Amino acid sequence: MLEDRTRRIDQFFLLNSARADSWRNIASTLRRWAEGRGDAKAVQTALGEVAIIERFHAFPGPRTMQSLTKLVESGDASGGAALAHRISEAIVTEDESAEIVEARTNETNERPLSLLPTILSGSQRERPYFETLFVTEQATERWPALIDQLQRLRRSEDQFVYEPVLVGTFEDAVCAVLVNPRIGSVVTIDDMPYSSWYQAPALREILDPIVSQEGGQASGLDLANVLKAVRPELDIYLLSDRDVEKIAGDANLTSVRRIFYAVEELLELHLSILEGVAARYETPFFDNLKRYAQRPIGTFHALPIARGKSVFRSAWIRDMGEFYGLNLFLAESSATTGGLDSLLEPTGNIKKSQDYAARAFGADRAFFVTNGTSTSNKMVVQALVKPGDIVIVDRNCHKSHHYGFVLGGAQPLYVEAFPLTQYSMYGAVPLDSIKTALLALRAEGRLDRVRMLDLTNCTFDGHMYNTRRVMEECLAIKPDLIFLWDEAWSGFAHWSPFLRPRTAMGAADAIETWMRDPVSVTEFERQQDQLGSNPSDDDLLRTRLIPDPRKVKLRVYQTNSTHKSMSAIRQGSMILVKDAEFANVESQFKEAVFTHASTSPNLQLIASLDVARRQMELEGYGLVMNAITIALKIREAVNTHPLISKYFRILNASEMIPSQFRSSGFVDFLEPGTSWADVVRAMREDEFYLDPTRMTLVCGMAGFEGTTFKGLLAQNFNIQVNKTSRNSVLVQSNINNTRSDVAHLLRVLVGISKGLDDDLKAAGTNGVNAFNARVKSLMHDVPELPNFSRFHEAFRYDSGELTTEGDMRGAFFSAYVEDDCEYIPLNSSIIDTRLNAGPELVSANFVIPYPPGFPIMVPGQVITRAIVEFMRKLDVKEIHGYEASKGVKLLKIDQF
Ligand SMILES: Cc1ncc(COP(=O)(O)O)c(C=O)c1O
Repeated sequence: MLEDRTRRIDQFFLLNSARADSWRNIASTLRRWAEGRGDAKAVQTALGEVAIIERFHAFPGPRTMQSLTKLVESGDASGGAALAHRISEAIVTEDESAEIVEARTNETNERPLSLLPTILSGSQRERPYFETLFVTEQATERWPALIDQLQRLRRSEDQFVYEPVLVGTFEDAVCAVLVNPRIGSVVTIDDMPYSSWYQAPALREILDPIVSQEGGQASGLDLANVLKAVRPELDIYLLSDRDVEKIAGDANLTSVRRIFYAVEELLELHLSILEGVAARYETPFFDNLKRYAQRPIGTFHALPIARGKSVFRSAWIRDMGEFYGLNLFLAESSATTGGLDSLLEPTGNIKKSQDYAARAFGADRAFFVTNGTSTSNKMVVQALVKPGDIVIVDRNCHKSHHYGFVLGGAQPLYVEAFPLTQYSMYGAVPLDSIKTALLALRAEGRLDRVRMLDLTNCTFDGHMYNTRRVMEECLAIKPDLIFLWDEAWSGFAHWSPFLRPRTAMGAADAIETWMRDPVSVTEFERQQDQLGSNPSDDDLLRTRLIPDPRKVKLRVYQTNSTHKSMSAIRQGSMILVKDAEFANVESQFKEAVFTHASTSPNLQLIASLDVARRQMELEGYGLVMNAITIALKIREAVNTHPLISKYFRILNASEMIPSQFRSSGFVDFLEPGTSWADVVRAMREDEFYLDPTRMTLVCGMAGFEGTTFKGLLAQNFNIQVNKTSRNSVLVQSNINNTRSDVAHLLRVLVGISKGLDDDLKAAGTNGVNAFNARVKSLMHDVPELPNFSRFHEAFRYDSGELTTEGDMRGAFFSAYVEDDCEYIPLNSSIIDTRLNAGPELVSANFVIPYPPGFPIMVPGQVITRAIVEFMRKLDVKEIHGYEASKGVKLLKIDQF
C-alpha cells in the first residue's frame, strides 16, 4: 500500500487506454509463466503497474485483485492466467458487467472471483452497468463489508446494475471521476480529508484554482461543485450527519441531487441512484415512438410506407424492407397526433426530449432540427437579425450563414481569420479584429446597428476560441450583442472538461456564474477607474475588457450537427439557447423555424437526437475521452514513426496556432515535458486552442495533393476523410473510433511510405528530382490566401467609412436580372484590363471552391487581383458558383 502511494496517478488521460494495455500485459506475462517461460517476479511487477488505477475501478475490484495476487503468490500460474485473461477481455471489450455476471455463475465456495453477493439472473446481463463512487470515512479494512452491504441492496426489479467504488479523500474522488468513465453517480460524505493518498501533482495544479484547499479537511459540497465542473452529468448525493435541513434549504445548492441524513436510508439511497440514472436514460420521444410502432394502426393519410405494407407486399421493393427492417416502417408516420407530438409546435414528448437535451448540454432551451446545421444556422440568423442589421462574421463561416444573411437582409461585416498560408487554410478570427470592428462602429455612432457576432467554433481544422473571453470583451463594448457559435463539429466537446469551457454553453455558464457573483461589479468598476473616462481605442484593444455585469444581456446561441460528433442520424442537428431576452424573440424564432423546417420532419431522426443525448449523458465522458486518446495515439505514432514521418506529418498546436495566440507557451499535447496541467492552462488562457481530435495530416511531403490523397485513401484503403487543402487532409477521431482504426490507418501510411521509398530508390536522379519538385510546389509554391476585399459602393449606401459591411442581399437579387449580368472567362485578358483600368469587377454570386470551402467571392464584392490570382492557381475541380465554360459572373455595375 505504501509504495503504491508514491506512484503518480495524474496522467489520467492516457490512463484509460494504458489500463487495457496493462491488463493485456498481465495476462500474457501470466500465460508465459504458465508455459514455463517466465516467473512470478515479472507478473508481480506487471500487477504493481495497475495497482493504483484499480483502486478507482469497481471491476475487477479489490477481492478479485486479492484472489489474483494469492494465485500468483501460491505459484498457480495457470489459475492466474485464466483469471487475468478474463479480466483483460472484459476490460478491453468494455464488458465488465457481463464478466461480473460470469464471475457470479462460476462462484466457488470461497468465492474467489466473487464480486456480487446477490444472485444475478441471466436477464441482468442485459441491464446497463455503471459504477457509483462512494467517498467514505470508514477505515479501509471495513471497505469489503461496506461493498457487501451495498451489493445486498440489489434487486431483480432494478433497471440497471451498478458496483461501488470506494475512496477516502477529496482528491481521490476527483481522480476516480476523471480516470473512470464508468462512474455514473457519486455518494459523498460532507467532511473528508483533502489530500490524495497517492502522488498527484498535476491533478493538484488543476484543482488548486478551483478549490483553495491546501491540506486538511474538505467539504462534500465543495467536492460536489468540483465534480459537477468536471462532469456535469453526474448525480451527486450527499450524506450528512449534521444539519441536513440547513444544507437542503440552500437555494443555490444545485450540484447535489439529494441529501440524506447519514446512511439511515440505504435502500432509499440505492433507489435514488437508480432513479437518477433512469432520468438520463429516459428518451421521451424515442420511448414513445417504440410504443407507437407496436400499436395496430390503420393509416388513411399520406406516407404509404408507414407500417410497411406498400413495401413488404411488393415483390419489387421488398428488398428495401428487408434491408432496413420492419421497425423503420412501423415507426414511420406523417401524423402528429396519437402521442407523436409535432416538431414544429412541440408540446408533448418532443418538447420533453428537447428539455432533456437543454439540461444535458447546459442550455436553457434546445431545439431539434432535422435538416442539418445548415438549417439551424439559417433559423438562428433569421430569428434574430432583421434587414439592415450588421453581423460581424468570419468569412470562413459555413455557407449557410452567408445564405442566411442573403435571405434575411443582414449586412455582413467580414472579419478575417489568421491565415495558415502554407497549408492553404485559415485559422480563426483574432479578438483584436473583432474589437477593432466594434470600436470602429462605435466611433461612427453605428453600434446600435450591430446585432450579432457569428463565429465557427471549433473551425473545421480544430481551432477553438476562448469563447468566454471573446464574449466578455465584446459585451464590454456592446452589452446586448448576440452571439451565434456554429459548433457544427464540436457538439461532443461538452462532454470533456478539457474542451467544455471553450464551448458556447460552457462559457455562457461561466459568465452567468460570474455575473451573479458580487465581485463582478467590483472588478468592472476597478477596471473603469484604471481606464479613466475616455480611454483610447489602443488602450481598449490592449486591455482584457470586463463588461458591466449590471448591463449585460447574455444572449448566446449554439448550433451543432449532432450527427457529426454524436450518434444522431445524418442531418440531426440542435440549436442550444441561453438568451436572457428569449421571451422577446420567441415568436420570431418560431417564424424562423416555420420558414426553414420541413413540415414532414423525419421521426427516426428526431428519435436519434433523443437517443444521442441519452448516450452522451450516460457515457459521453468516456467516449470523448476515447476520441481524444485515439487522436493522441495517431498524432504520436505518425510523427515519431521513422518511415511514416519521412513523408507525412500531423501538425501540432504550435504549427496550427501562431505563438501570439498561445500566451501560455503551450506547444503541443505530445511535446516532451508537457503535463496535463499545461494542457489545462492552455485551454484556460490561450486565445486559441487546438481540439486534438482534429488532425491536419500533411501529405504534400509525400507528393500528394490533398484531394488526390483523400481519393487514394478512399478507393484503395477504405479510409474516409473529409476536408482537404492543397497539401493536407483532415483526419478526425470521433466517439466511434477504436484502436483497430488507428492500427489500420498506420498500416496504410506505412504501406504508402514504403511504396514511396521503393519508388524513389528505383526512380533515378530524374525521378527523384521530379518528386522533389512536386513536393516543393505543393509545400512552398502555395497561393496567398486573398482577404475579403470590400462591397462595391452601390451596395454600401448606408455604410460607414471605417468598416466594410454591405447589402449582400441587394447584390444577390440584382443578379436575377440576366441583362444586368455579364460573364468573363477567368483567364481572359479582359479580366486583367478591367483590373487595371476598370470598370471594377463585381461578383454577382457566391463562388466557393472546395477546398478550401470558404466563399472567395460573395455577391456585390469587388474582385481584386489577389482574388483572380488565387482563382487562377486553384487546381480544384469543384467550385460552386463558377462555370468554367462561361466565366466569372459579374454584375454590370454601371447599370445600377
Ligand atoms: C462549420 C459548419 N457549419 C455548418 C455546417 C452544416 O452542417 P450540416 O451538414 O449539419 O447541415 C457545416 C458542414 O460541414 C460546417 O462545417
